[in-house]
Amino acid sequence: MDNAQQSSASCHVSVMPDEIVHWVAGCQPKVVIDGTFGGGGHSRRMIDAIESLDLVIGLDRDPAVLRRADDEGVDRLSVFLASYEQAAKALDVCGHDRCDAMVLDLGLSSDQLADRDRGFSFQFDAPLDLRFDPENGVSASEWLARQSEKEIADAIYQFGEERFSRRIAREIIAAAKRREPVRTVQQLCDICRRCVPRSKNHDIHPATRTFQALRIVVNDELGILARTLQAAPDWLDEGGRMVVISFHSLEDRLVKQAFRDDDRWNVLTKKPLRPSDAEITTNPRARSAKLRIAERSAR
Ligand SMILES: C[S@@+](CC[C@H](N)C(=O)[O-])C[C@H]1O[C@@H](n2cnc3c(N)ncnc32)[C@H](O)[C@@H]1O
Repeated sequence: MDNAQQSSASCHVSVMPDEIVHWVAGCQPKVVIDGTFGGGGHSRRMIDAIESLDLVIGLDRDPAVLRRADDEGVDRLSVFLASYEQAAKALDVCGHDRCDAMVLDLGLSSDQLADRDRGFSFQFDAPLDLRFDPENGVSASEWLARQSEKEIADAIYQFGEERFSRRIAREIIAAAKRREPVRTVQQLCDICRRCVPRSKNHDIHPATRTFQALRIVVNDELGILARTLQAAPDWLDEGGRMVVISFHSLEDRLVKQAFRDDDRWNVLTKKPLRPSDAEITTNPRARSAKLRIAERSAR
């Protein structure tokens, strides 16, 4: 099955699917956790291509993903509404202590980007939410309303690597003082347009880094990733594989350091693997992907 044959309800095209199948198949897995199920493309590819597989456990924090997955009826697949941080619980529910591989394909899916009401895309005006799970936690607009100017500037700088973070934070606070708190995508885009000079080739939207930062904050993306990389050696059998695709340097650095600094991992990719030019041409979303793999060392 190729990517085009993914669930009709999902418009997400999986990134580096052949590489995922190759590296997961290499440990002849019976039980695999797909920690970021999304459109389910990686799960379905693995189920189709890896004969040894008895079960793929799909996890996602987004209730919309679960609603789609309910219709699938794919054999050897169980999908749960949960953070990948709760993989041990999902294993337990399925009657297993450990798994043979865990796949993480970080960030957001094209389905989430295309959803006009979630605030992920600059193309649609919507409430500034940005949560993967809109039923828990606080939205990005609520988060902004609760922080000081310095806290906002620091977060935009740290998680968005945005040089103009202070200007942006100043404008966000000034808007709140005028009783026009930032509540929508367009309000924040307007502020970023005023504060961030256009990039040389106009290739990156002035709000890109700020939105990345707020998304990371409201979803605690880096905290969850760091805790998971720390806990995952307990969930994997000896020789089991941790397979992670990241899309920006903050994520990739965490993965690289966690694999390198923990002797429970044997690193299988000294340098991250990148998508082929052909894949980037057909799926531009893949262009910043980096894939790293480590194997659980002997206990
Ligand atoms: C890039 S998409 C995954 C696409 C999927 N691999 C495919 O091929 O269709 C990332 C998914 O991870 C989910 N996600 C983000 N953080 C998560 C977390 N902590 N636990 C579980 N899912 C998470 C998002 O909701 C999104 O659906």
